[in-house]
Amino acid sequence: MKGERILKERLIVVSNREPYVFRRGRLEKSVGGLVTALDPVMQATRGIWIAAGSSPEAGPRSKVPPEAPSYTLRRVFLSEEDLEGYYNGYSNRFLWPLCHITLDRIYLRNSYWESYQKVNRVFADAVIEELGRGKAIVWLQDYHLALCGKYIRARRPRLKISLFWHIPWPPHDVFRICPQRVELLEGLLANDLLGFQLESYRLNFLRCVSREMGLKTDLKRGLVYYNGRTIRVKAFPISVDFEWFEESASTRRAERFLERFKKKYGLEGQLLGLGVDRLDYTKGILKCFDTLELFFAKYPRYRGRFTFIQVAVPTRKIEPYLSYMERVRKRVESINRRYSTSRWQPIRYIEGRLSHEDLAALYRGADLAMISSVYDGMNLVAKEYVASPVDLKGALLLSEFAGAAEDMPGAILINPYDTEGCADAIKSALEAPMEKKRETLQDAREHVKRNNIFRWVNEIIKEFKCIP
Ligand code: F6P
Repeated sequence: MKGERILKERLIVVSNREPYVFRRGRLEKSVGGLVTALDPVMQATRGIWIAAGSSPEAGPRSKVPPEAPSYTLRRVFLSEEDLEGYYNGYSNRFLWPLCHITLDRIYLRNSYWESYQKVNRVFADAVIEELGRGKAIVWLQDYHLALCGKYIRARRPRLKISLFWHIPWPPHDVFRICPQRVELLEGLLANDLLGFQLESYRLNFLRCVSREMGLKTDLKRGLVYYNGRTIRVKAFPISVDFEWFEESASTRRAERFLERFKKKYGLEGQLLGLGVDRLDYTKGILKCFDTLELFFAKYPRYRGRFTFIQVAVPTRKIEPYLSYMERVRKRVESINRRYSTSRWQPIRYIEGRLSHEDLAALYRGADLAMISSVYDGMNLVAKEYVASPVDLKGALLLSEFAGAAEDMPGAILINPYDTEGCADAIKSALEAPMEKKRETLQDAREHVKRNNIFRWVNEIIKEFKCIP
């Protein structure tokens, strides 16, 4: 069901990141669930995708996909100063830590908020320009664009507009830290349909609306009554392309990659643990390393027999990410210094991005995957991992603070703050009877297979059709 429930209207998607990036003179498709799911829908509806352009030489518009041009990628070019204030500043130094409840990392300047408003207006102007006369549905993506709906609505009051918030929405006690809280809520309530990852985030949002704005809300049906309009607020847990991961993990290429990888790092015959994370402080990579250090201290018989592979993908080039990356590197060094032997290292640290094909191979080869997020909207690595072990060998240790833990059965839930509990969970997972592991993994696989990324997009499209 790859996006076959197509809309009558043209779809205008707006996101910060481009679905196709112009690199070395050609367009390359971005990796990630959103693009995978939306690309077929955009092609079928001949829609327009508006995003912040990353290479001016690409020009303002391209027809994509390059091999079968059918929809338009419209780029909005932002100045360094605007990017600094809107993306690095308000989005990632303020909204991100606020929504992930890491409050001591919040940093806010007036200039950030000014840029955020300005850039949201720039995106809204681009939408108005692209709209033309025909019917359209505008679908905004994520926390970068909270105000965009309001600026569009001011000029096109009857347009259908929706926004999906990809990260957590915090409880009111946290949200009230935000000096611009009413403005943000007003911006979001300009949409007709608001999507969140989980029931709990949806409820947090509705409570913020009633506490801050005194509006009438219907928690059960997810309705807000505002300015004579009814806004629907629903949960749509995002997912992955299950079949793609299953198929990619099954290929001969994947087997060969795994063989080469094990040979390169001397991992033949080892039990393997795997972590795959952006180098983001919300991912709890340091907590995972605390666990590993304790695990090897408490269970020395696993020294030389179990290796943890950590793929760490550098991300936003700002504080506090840069110092987090430094701390992660130092921690790996110190654990490896403590336990390594001439033939074995406890942690194989790979800093950089691997292709999804290579990741699928690693997922398949790992005896366990560990996700230690301290807070996470969903965490798609959890779903990619369960889609990949086609021989049903493996176990997922998943932080109870990742959205996936609320959405998906079949994971072994861990509390990353309980270092000893996590270390014991690794041991139990490695020693669990194979049959038990298979059953557990199978539950998770069935869930992700049914609730895949195409279903996510189709569920949202179904809701678009109910907008009056
Ligand atoms: O989870 C929110 C999100 O914006 C994702 O959509 C994205 O993959 C990830 O964070 C990376 O963020 P950025 O676009 O800032 O690199």
